[in-house]
Amino acid sequence: MTFAQDDQGAWGQARRQVATIAAGLRRVRLVLPAAAIALATAVLAGEIRVVPAVIVFAAITLGVLLDIRRAAAARGAGAEVLGRRGDADDLVVDAAIAGVPDPVIVLERGGLVRAFNRRAVEVAPALATARPLSFALRHPGVLEAVRRAAEEGGTVRTEMFQRVPAERWWEAVIAPVRLPAGPDPRNGERLLLVAFHDLTPLRRSEQMRADFIANASHELRTPLASLSGFIDTLQGPARADTAAREKFLGIMRAQASRMARLIDDLLSLSRIELKAHVRPESPVDLVLLLRQVADGLQPIAGERGVAIAFDPPPEPVTVAGDRDELLRAFENLVENALKYGASGGRVELAILREPGLQGTEVAVSVRDYGPGIAPEHLPRLTERFYRADVAESRAQGGTGLGLALVKHILQRHRGRLGIDSTPGAGATFTVRLPIVTGSPSATRIDGISAS
Ligand SMILES: Nc1ncnc2c1ncn2[C@@H]1O[C@H](COP(=O)(O)OP(=O)(O)OP(=O)(O)O)[C@@H](O)[C@H]1O
Ligand SMILES: [Mg+2]
Repeated sequence: MTFAQDDQGAWGQARRQVATIAAGLRRVRLVLPAAAIALATAVLAGEIRVVPAVIVFAAITLGVLLDIRRAAAARGAGAEVLGRRGDADDLVVDAAIAGVPDPVIVLERGGLVRAFNRRAVEVAPALATARPLSFALRHPGVLEAVRRAAEEGGTVRTEMFQRVPAERWWEAVIAPVRLPAGPDPRNGERLLLVAFHDLTPLRRSEQMRADFIANASHELRTPLASLSGFIDTLQGPARADTAAREKFLGIMRAQASRMARLIDDLLSLSRIELKAHVRPESPVDLVLLLRQVADGLQPIAGERGVAIAFDPPPEPVTVAGDRDELLRAFENLVENALKYGASGGRVELAILREPGLQGTEVAVSVRDYGPGIAPEHLPRLTERFYRADVAESRAQGGTGLGLALVKHILQRHRGRLGIDSTPGAGATFTVRLPIVTGSPSATRIDGISAS
């Protein structure tokens, strides 16, 4: 018996027989070498000639194989082999555990594996029936819990952490069960049910929450420490120094506005998360929106000597969305390009129409020619507080929440963000948003090409 589903057909029967033959071979593994040694010794001592010795050895081998086959056949007919029960009980056990969505292993007396379902191999890939659980699962905590459950007869819970092939946390619940007693005296047998529940998503979200609180506190503590430092200086040594006071007050204002921005971003993130499942539906013209973004960021572009190029299509490009949220998302992308890609001197905005997974899509790209982003950072850029270069982001007044906000805003709009970058040659952030087929915008944006 292996997987519950297999056992019902001829395939399951064949596998059971192979398992029984393998177990039989293990049981008689010393018989054949012993016979070979004895016969070889007799041949060398001249007691028996070679040909009769070979015939005797062949006869012993045949006898052993016939014995094993008889045992396998007897097992198929419902007799006990290796302390295991007949097919009917096995099928009931198999059918019961096959329907459980979590990994489940059934043990019989002595800790031998009676049955396991398909998912159980995620926990112990080398599982095999009629073999001790400890051969396949080398976790001392679980084995100890199995021993206790068998001894005490009660349910025992324990946790297990797996490092390979991927990090996973499991809760193992070991519960003794008794098969119902019937007219058959072999019924009423006690089994142990070992069920595993995957705790990985829970542990990950706990870890994320802890990281988030640690990061948010750290981001707030830095400007707060700087503010209280300047307050001490202004109350003490610089009390009468008018020039120093003006300078320090300027720094204090910048730090206070950084804290305000951080709190504002955190609140926006949680507001957007709360509305994550409500799809925004107001019509928003992306051409107008991007013009507004480009105009609004012109002063920053001027300060950094960057030209913003936007060659909009003549027709409006309308998507269903929340105008303020989309404005915020594109502002962050263009602001990032201006802040981190300033050395390229040019930022390009483009709108183009593409066939996508959900019908026609609009792709809005923001491209810069700055230093670009190393590939190892790309998958993590949209995580909260993640920065490719922490010092530079802080120096630019960044909180590291901008791209996390972009990601959440796009998720709410059923859109997605693509990031392409070649280090040394700049970065392109592309926002893809669906266009509802048949809406006026779908026809209007025909003819839009990349600028
Ligand atoms: N165009 C870009 N070129 C190079 N690096 C970039 C670019 N855009 C983003 N990054 C990197 O990604 C990081 C995360 O960006 P994100 O917008 O989330 O945060 P931020 O800009 O640091 O802070 P905030 O947006 O809250 O002001 C940045 O710190 C920067 O290291
Ligand atoms: Mg940003």
